[in-house]
Amino acid sequence: MITIKSPSDIEKMSVPCRIVAEVLEGIKGMVGPDISTADLDAYAESEIRKRKALPAFKGYRGYPASICASVNEQVVHGIPSLSTRLKDGDIISIDIGVLANGFYGDAAITLAVGRVSDEAVRLMKATQESLLVGIDKAVAGNRLSDISHAVQSYVEERGFSAVRAFVGHGIGRQMHEEPQIPNFGKPGKGPLLREGMTLAIEPMINAGASDVNILGDGWTAVTADGRLSAHFEHTVLVSKNGPVILTKIS
Ligand code: MF3
Ligand code: CO
Repeated sequence: MITIKSPSDIEKMSVPCRIVAEVLEGIKGMVGPDISTADLDAYAESEIRKRKALPAFKGYRGYPASICASVNEQVVHGIPSLSTRLKDGDIISIDIGVLANGFYGDAAITLAVGRVSDEAVRLMKATQESLLVGIDKAVAGNRLSDISHAVQSYVEERGFSAVRAFVGHGIGRQMHEEPQIPNFGKPGKGPLLREGMTLAIEPMINAGASDVNILGDGWTAVTADGRLSAHFEHTVLVSKNGPVILTKIS
């Protein structure tokens, strides 16, 4: 069942979504050579708790940290570690989920560490833009796969590939609600989008092939070909006036 949120639900949900946006903004200012992904995690957890909210990922199916920090060929679900220190030329995807007010917010960004390759710049830009073209389709009366198709065609036109193994999701009183939101597919399929739906749209885009493997830690997804991957995510409301990004700093 796809849940429909009332205006008062949306008001409540805007709180965790705003916290996600604020913490990501703080992380942007911290990322740089020599910081460890465990430092980023500790910062995020303390900022979330300071706001009387909970880190949604911590303990989720046994996940051990508050954020996912995925470096270079890591696609998603990288586990923060003191031994993962960022260096000039890396790219890092940071994914944060927050529970507050009985609702979840979820968003991700990919950042450059110092100077990165032209390919990394193009990949990050295309991934961020593919999220925006996907969000543009989050309009009442469209079909779910209009989002998927917009993301896939945008990145493939630029020579990149959309990961198949992970998808976006509905979000609300649960972190993962129906529907699943693939980043690939034909347009015009799947459920009709309706006012009051809230969707976590999250393209995971690879520089090379779309195949991924899971590392021995049971979480970290990496590209099978070892090439770079980027990830951007927003929690989005389908509203009367079109898509509203709830996890945006405004
Ligand atoms: N944004 C990701 C998702 O929706 C993050 C989940 S990470 C986990 O699946 F650690 F909580 F699993
Ligand atoms: Co998500």
